[in-house]
Amino acid sequence: MLGPSNLQHVFALCVSAAFLLTTVESYVCTSCSRKQCRSNLTATCAPSQACFSLQQEFSFSGQQIDLVQEKGCSLGACAPLAFSVTFGDRTTFSYDRRCCQGKQCNKENVPLTPKSSNPNGIECPACYNETNLSCNPVHLQCTGAETKCIEVVGTVTINRIPYFALFGMGCATESACNLELSIVNGTNVRSYCVGPKSGSPPLMSITSAVLPAVFLLKVLL
Ligand SMILES: *[C@@H]1O[C@H](CO)[C@@H](O)[C@H](O)[C@H]1NC(C)=O
Ligand SMILES: *[C@@H]1O[C@H](CO)[C@@H](O)[C@H](O)[C@H]1NC(C)=O
Ligand SMILES: *[C@@H]1O[C@H](CO)[C@@H](O)[C@H](O)[C@H]1NC(C)=O
Ligand SMILES: *[C@@H]1O[C@H](CO)[C@@H](O)[C@H](O)[C@H]1NC(C)=O
Repeated sequence: MLGPSNLQHVFALCVSAAFLLTTVESYVCTSCSRKQCRSNLTATCAPSQACFSLQQEFSFSGQQIDLVQEKGCSLGACAPLAFSVTFGDRTTFSYDRRCCQGKQCNKENVPLTPKSSNPNGIECPACYNETNLSCNPVHLQCTGAETKCIEVVGTVTINRIPYFALFGMGCATESACNLELSIVNGTNVRSYCVGPKSGSPPLMSITSAVLPAVFLLKVLL
C-alpha cells in the first residue's frame, strides 16, 4: 500500500523523469552506407538512440578487398565493438563499431587501427575456406593484440534458408571470441576461441549450430 509519503516520492520521480525526457533533445547523426559515406547525409535520431559509425575491412592475400562503412542512428542502445582476425592464406577481417551522442558526432572517418606485425609469441592453426566447413590448417605466428586462437563459421540466409559461406581458423583479438554477429554482405558469423595450447577442437560447438545450413547447401547443390 502506498502511504502519502510514498505517493509524494512517486510524484517526485514522475516529475524528474518528465524533466529528463524533455531536456534530452533528439539530434542529427551522419547517416550513410558504403560509398555514400563520402557525402554528408544525415538522419534525425530519437533521444534513446546514439549515432554509430561502423567500418569493416576484408582483405585476401594481404590486399584490401572490401572496406565497408556505415553510419546512422543505432537501433536501440549502441554498443561499441572492435576486433580483428587473421585467418590463414593472409586473409584478414577487421571490425570497428563506435558510438557517440551529439550532433553529427559520427561525421569524421576514423581510420581502422593498423595491425601490428610484431609476433606476440602465440601460435595458432590457421586456414580459410569458403567452400567447405574444414580446411588444412598451417601454423600461424600471431601478432600484436591478436592473442587468441579462433574458429569462425559464416552463413548467409537467403529466403530464410541458411547457406554455408565461410570457415576460418587463425589468430584474433580477445574481443572477437564468442561472437554471433551479422557482418559485411549479410554474412552471419559465429566465433569460438580456444587457448593456443589446447589440442581439442571446439569445432563441434559451433558446427552444431550451422550443420543444418551445410546440409541444406549440399541438398541444393
Ligand atoms: C556537407 O558538407 C559540406 C562541406 O563540409 C558543407 O558545405 C555542406 O553544408 C554540408 N551539407 C550538409 C547538408 O550538412
Ligand atoms: C569437406 O571436408 C570434409 C572433411 O575434411 C570432407 O569429408 C568432405 O568431403 C569435404 N567436402 C567437399 C565438398 O570437398
Ligand atoms: C576448401 O575446401 C575444398 C573442398 O573440400 C577444397 O577442395 C579446397 O582445397 C579447400 N581450400 C582450402 C584453401 O583449404
Ligand atoms: C560484398 O558484396 C559486394 C557487392 O556484391 C562485393 O563487391 C564485395 O566484394 C563483397 N564483400 C565481401 C567481403 O565479400
